Amino acid sequence: MSIKQAINGKTSLVGLMGWPVEHSLSPCMHNAAFAELGLDWAYVPLPVRPDDLPQALKGLAALNFVGVNVTIPHKQAVMRYMDDLSKAAKTIGAVNTIHLQGNKFMGYNTDAPGFLNALVEKDCHPKGMRVAVLGAGGAARAVVFALAWAEADAVVILNRTTERAAFLIEDLNDTFPQSKLDFAHLTNNSLAALDGKIDLVVNTTSVGMHPEKEKSPWPTDVAIPRNAVFCDLVYNPLETVFLARAREAGAKVIDGLGMLVHQGAAAFEHWTGQAAPIEVMRRACLAGLVNKLASE
Ligand SMILES: NC(=O)c1ccc[n+]([C@@H]2O[C@H](COP(=O)([O-])OP(=O)(O)OC[C@H]3O[C@@H](n4cnc5c(N)ncnc54)[C@H](OP(=O)(O)O)[C@@H]3O)[C@@H](O)[C@H]2O)c1
Repeated sequence: MSIKQAINGKTSLVGLMGWPVEHSLSPCMHNAAFAELGLDWAYVPLPVRPDDLPQALKGLAALNFVGVNVTIPHKQAVMRYMDDLSKAAKTIGAVNTIHLQGNKFMGYNTDAPGFLNALVEKDCHPKGMRVAVLGAGGAARAVVFALAWAEADAVVILNRTTERAAFLIEDLNDTFPQSKLDFAHLTNNSLAALDGKIDLVVNTTSVGMHPEKEKSPWPTDVAIPRNAVFCDLVYNPLETVFLARAREAGAKVIDGLGMLVHQGAAAFEHWTGQAAPIEVMRRACLAGLVNKLASE
């Protein structure tokens, strides 16, 4: 049965609030998961202009939505409307999943567990690792939180705008006083200096993302560090220039699809209370990506 045919008066509703949302893979990922488990649920895109956010949130409660995912540009702005926040959401400073319980808005951040689960499924365990995180934006905040929580030995954040990296560390230091968090300016020299001193490099910048697929945050004239795992949060394209070069140099690589799937799975589990069908969600995302590529 198609999703359209299945929707009825008792269907539980969830969705994605953002601006814009039309390119998101989340509707096909979640609707595939509901269909797989035979759940009478539907996930809909909810384009919400920044000025309309308070009314849109009120509307969710009025329309009996179970919850929503939240994406750019609302991840920080929704925080003030939550009745309660998870520790991760509070520390990271962003909510990507809302669960409405009664009339209460519960705010979560599933990017952090999503990132960790994506590493672990590729047999990459950050505990004790020395990690370089490129970028200090919203995704970096979840990644650095996750690495500190997983007891990475040390994390250095390299960003074009150093103040942003400094603020990130300041925000996380209270929660993780035992973590060795440092920052530096993202330059050829700071990247070259990582050689031999790093176990994992995570790209959280948007460099290399469609439509600028030929770009990489790792310059061609800087050698790929020996024995480091390379992970990219960008998932369109799946193999970025950053990952392709690392792979050619013999590094193990982890693409951004795993994090996308696992952050979605964690949201799914908050809403439904059921284990998410991870492989079904992954296949749905891959099919969505192939469709995107065909239309680009
Ligand atoms: N796989 C997943 O599930 C997942 C989840 C979340 C995000 N993501 C991806 O992660 C990426 C970042 O998202 P975000 O929400 O963190 O974005 P954001 O808050 O806008 O941060 C962007 C980051 O990229 C840096 N950057 C942008 N252009 C740059 C350039 N030309 N050179 C050097 N650095 C540059 C920015 O540096 P400045 O601070 O200097 O501006 C900043 O650190 C996006 O591609 C997004 O799709 C993937």
